[in-house]
Amino acid sequence: MTIRLASIIVGLALTAVLVLWSLAPGLLNFALPEDPPYYAYQEENIQPAGGFVFEGPLGTWDEQQLQRGYQVYKEVCSACHSLKYVAFRNLEQLGYNEAEVRAEAANWNVPGIDPLTGEATTRPATPTDYFPSPYPNDVAARAANNNAIPPDLSLMTKARKDGTHYVYSLLLGYNEPDPEDVAKSPDFETPAGLYFNEYFYNINIAMPPQLYPDLITYSDGTEATPEQMAEDVTAFLTWTAEPSLVERKQTGWFVIGFLFFATILAFLSYKQVWAGLKPKKT
Ligand code: HEC
Repeated sequence: MTIRLASIIVGLALTAVLVLWSLAPGLLNFALPEDPPYYAYQEENIQPAGGFVFEGPLGTWDEQQLQRGYQVYKEVCSACHSLKYVAFRNLEQLGYNEAEVRAEAANWNVPGIDPLTGEATTRPATPTDYFPSPYPNDVAARAANNNAIPPDLSLMTKARKDGTHYVYSLLLGYNEPDPEDVAKSPDFETPAGLYFNEYFYNINIAMPPQLYPDLITYSDGTEATPEQMAEDVTAFLTWTAEPSLVERKQTGWFVIGFLFFATILAFLSYKQVWAGLKPKKT
């Protein structure tokens, strides 16, 4: 009798603990002050009409596009962003020949030393050099950009979720916060020196909007709309992050074909090996 009573009490006590436990987060939320209102960043990225040519199982690079993308990087982004894992010789993959790469590299200055005095200076780059950083160090980078360091772009499309579409969206994502929300709360105002961009994870980015119509003159005559430039430079940055992307896909097709062939061979040899050993019906 006492045992039964004791177990009922223990059971009730356990139930009470479980109930309180499950209510605890709610009680805590109730007791704490509310979060300030904020904009949720846009997780669904946009993409060019028809998508990127290198996407999908049969996607390939468009060399013209990559060259245009390089032009956008060179004339716009390189003022603030480095590309430290890409060497000038890699540009041969974009369809430039050796002489063109040599000439292109010579347009850039990289850190060097004076051959007579040993002082630090700059010299024209050679194909084996890597793209230089526009700033001598992080302090200078911060000082020029409202205390934010422009990150290296070599691996950017790999460093963010859905990276290729993210970079494209970010470049075209500059906008204004909804005036109604701003009227409701000062928390919605864009801080001075920052720019409202819904695709950036904290909404206010230190990078000013970059792409304006006809900002550059494409050497192949393509019209330089912001969408066009965003698509081209994003393609270029996808290439810098994974130059072997197309090769990888093509290898995949070859491997699938080979495995298919090997499966047929295995099946035929199985038939051959067991041909004489099939149990005979009597
Ligand atoms: C005037 C300098 C400047 C130029 C030019 C510039 N950027 Fe930026 N960029 C920045 C700064 C500063 C940041 C860091 C922003 C932050 O952390 O708030 C940044 C950040 C980025 C990011 C990273 C965003 C993230 O998720 O962290 C990408 C991608 C980017 N820039 C791409 C580009 C591309 C592509 C171009 C050329 C079309 C370009 N930028 C031109 C200054 C610049």
